[in-house]
Amino acid sequence: MKKNWWKTLTFALSIGLLLAGCSVGGDKPTSSGDKVYVIGTDAAYPPFEKMEADKITGFDIDVMQAIADAAGFKFEVRNTGWDPLFDGVEKGTVDAGISSITITDERKQKYDFTEPYFEANQLILVGADSPVGALTDLQGKKIGVQSATTGETVVKKAFGDTYEGIKGYEDTPSAVDDFFNGRVEAVVADNGVLSYFAGKIEGKQYKLIKDNSFAPEHYGIMVQKGNTEFLTKLNQGLKIIKENGKLQEIHDKYFKQ
Ligand code: ARG
Repeated sequence: MKKNWWKTLTFALSIGLLLAGCSVGGDKPTSSGDKVYVIGTDAAYPPFEKMEADKITGFDIDVMQAIADAAGFKFEVRNTGWDPLFDGVEKGTVDAGISSITITDERKQKYDFTEPYFEANQLILVGADSPVGALTDLQGKKIGVQSATTGETVVKKAFGDTYEGIKGYEDTPSAVDDFFNGRVEAVVADNGVLSYFAGKIEGKQYKLIKDNSFAPEHYGIMVQKGNTEFLTKLNQGLKIIKENGKLQEIHDKYFKQ
């Protein structure tokens, strides 16, 4: 009696394991299988990426979702912050970064990037009554930037790497806050995010200036150097959403004038 019971249980367990074994890998044709890619971002960069009631949302997240749908893979987004994102991609603790990251020659030496998905440029945020009309007019002034961004790069290029007036912040909203509190006289950052913040602050007087030296920048998704497997998938998805109008649709959703 006891023995039979044991046998039955063992038999049932084996069948169960067999079935479980069969379902692993499944019969789905996608090569990525059940892998969930981890995508890092600095979710303090509206309207591209922001925390909204514990959820990360924004233009970049919609673009990532559209790419994943088109290329057939799953992902989750992690709010890593800006500096740790570069570290994470380099070490492989995150599979990719989507964070309004400008594709630069310097970054290309250390990371691989997808084709561009967005065009941007730097802008200068100053008070409405400020005499500043160009980047060189900021000489001697206190300028806020997010550290290790292209905004910091253009300021350092203009006034030197050791320029004392430059104030580096861990994130862009802190720089903008300090501008409106009068702790810095200007902020240099990407057009999309500065326009967003400036538009949100009611009753404050400001202007946005584009210097002639500000070159067009292109955002790309960043992966670990040599990760051609994921890079290929991302580029495939990106190509599809460029061709079928989905990328344009997302663009219009966030940047309709
Ligand atoms: N485009 C600029 C850069 O690549 C700034 C991007 C900052 N992004 C962010 N999510 N904080 O340097």
